[in-house]
Amino acid sequence: MKKLIKNGVIVTATDTYEADVLIDHQVVMAIGHNLDEADCEIVDAKGCYIFPGGIDPHTHLDMPFGGTVTKDDFETGTVAAAFGGTTTIIDFCLTNKGEPLQKAIDRWHEKSSGKASIDYSFHLMVSEINNDVLAELPNVIEKEGITSFKVFMAYKNVFQSDDATLYRTLLEAKKLRALVMVHAENGDVIEYLVEQALAEGNTDPIYHALTRPPEIEGEATGRAAQLTQLADSQLYVVHVSCAQAAEKIIEARKKGANVYGETCPQYLVLDQTDLEKPNFEGAKYVWSPPLREKWHQDVLWQALKNGDLQTLGSDQCSFDFKGQKELGKDDFTKIPNGGPIIEDRFSILFSEGVVKGRISLNQFVDLTSTKAAKLFGLYPKKGTIAVGGDADLVIFDPNQERTISADTHHMAVDYNAFEGMTIKGEPVSVLSRGEFVVKEKQFVGKAGHGEYIKRAKHNEPYQLKKVLPTNS
Ligand code: URP
Ligand code: ZN
Ligand code: ZN
Ligand code: ZN
Repeated sequence: MKKLIKNGVIVTATDTYEADVLIDHQVVMAIGHNLDEADCEIVDAKGCYIFPGGIDPHTHLDMPFGGTVTKDDFETGTVAAAFGGTTTIIDFCLTNKGEPLQKAIDRWHEKSSGKASIDYSFHLMVSEINNDVLAELPNVIEKEGITSFKVFMAYKNVFQSDDATLYRTLLEAKKLRALVMVHAENGDVIEYLVEQALAEGNTDPIYHALTRPPEIEGEATGRAAQLTQLADSQLYVVHVSCAQAAEKIIEARKKGANVYGETCPQYLVLDQTDLEKPNFEGAKYVWSPPLREKWHQDVLWQALKNGDLQTLGSDQCSFDFKGQKELGKDDFTKIPNGGPIIEDRFSILFSEGVVKGRISLNQFVDLTSTKAAKLFGLYPKKGTIAVGGDADLVIFDPNQERTISADTHHMAVDYNAFEGMTIKGEPVSVLSRGEFVVKEKQFVGKAGHGEYIKRAKHNEPYQLKKVLPTNS
């Protein structure tokens, strides 16, 4: 059924204005005043903003990692995402060396097919470059619409690739017009520091942070940025946590390099002291890169405001405290890395960013949706509110308050790293391609509504199909 959203204030990355939105055939059919109400369900958005649905470019759902598997899968993870105002996710498809890429992609389709309540796409991990991989990559782009490749510079003997692999991936991505993503930390030096810490009997969660100092992230970020310039390619640095890494991105961008950076809410709000919480609670705050000293947050906020960092990802990678994080009770290296954040990414940035005057309303939309859509080949299907684009919309009440808690969140884990934090501004209703997924704070979506999206190449527009209005 057609829907007409009335009385709201539309906010895009560039504009803020009052207008009504007519939805038909899953897309935004018209924006204006005095639109024809015939056969429409009327949705009153008085007092609310209408945002483009959030795009979370960094999730790990149903992913084997650290000797266990992330707790949230494509069903629970996308329900939580929808509650939080996110209508598209891009998840990381892991690959195994020696295995055809297509086999890994098929495995990720199996994990997600029929489960997601919002739309989704994949990035592909590249861990080696050889003739088989080179032969398959064009197909990955053309057939699967996967136009971003992820290379790990850390997690030695697990995911880590060497510099030649990164460089060759950058060269190939330039040719194929894909975006290379890196986890930028120096895995070799981390391994040495970890061995030293364990030899000295230092096994507590805080040593996770102390063995991964910010210089280690700054060095790897700078190295990846330099290799990108040498290859004249394009790079997206995930989960930037510290000043040292931000500086390297700023430096490369000043030279005109195609280098982009993402940060995550955890680095904007939490800090290294959280890892020192007693009773092993510090394990809840183990991310890689680790949480930093508080002063880094000012640098990250400034970088978001200045456009030096372009996106906000969640890096959703959730493990229960009981039974999963506890695997590292006697050895911090066995604590599975990551946390539950897919649900609160959007509202935390609104509350901490817009409400506190650190970023503008339009920057908020750019950071949570538009820029990711543009970089990852989803725009203008996703990432804005425009005629012909998907009706992925968030009706958002800027005055509602909520206290974050594991008791009320929709993620499948037994804790929330932001427990007790009060945030201002909440999604009230969320639509995915014109269907309510969340309506008046109730989940009304269904598993399987979410479609797999084949994306356009890096920096190229997604070609929209022409949709004609239904005659009433
Ligand atoms: O600690 C983290 N970030 N876990 C998820 C995997 C990754 O490195 O992104
Ligand atoms: Zn229709
Ligand atoms: Zn990572
Ligand atoms: Zn990640």
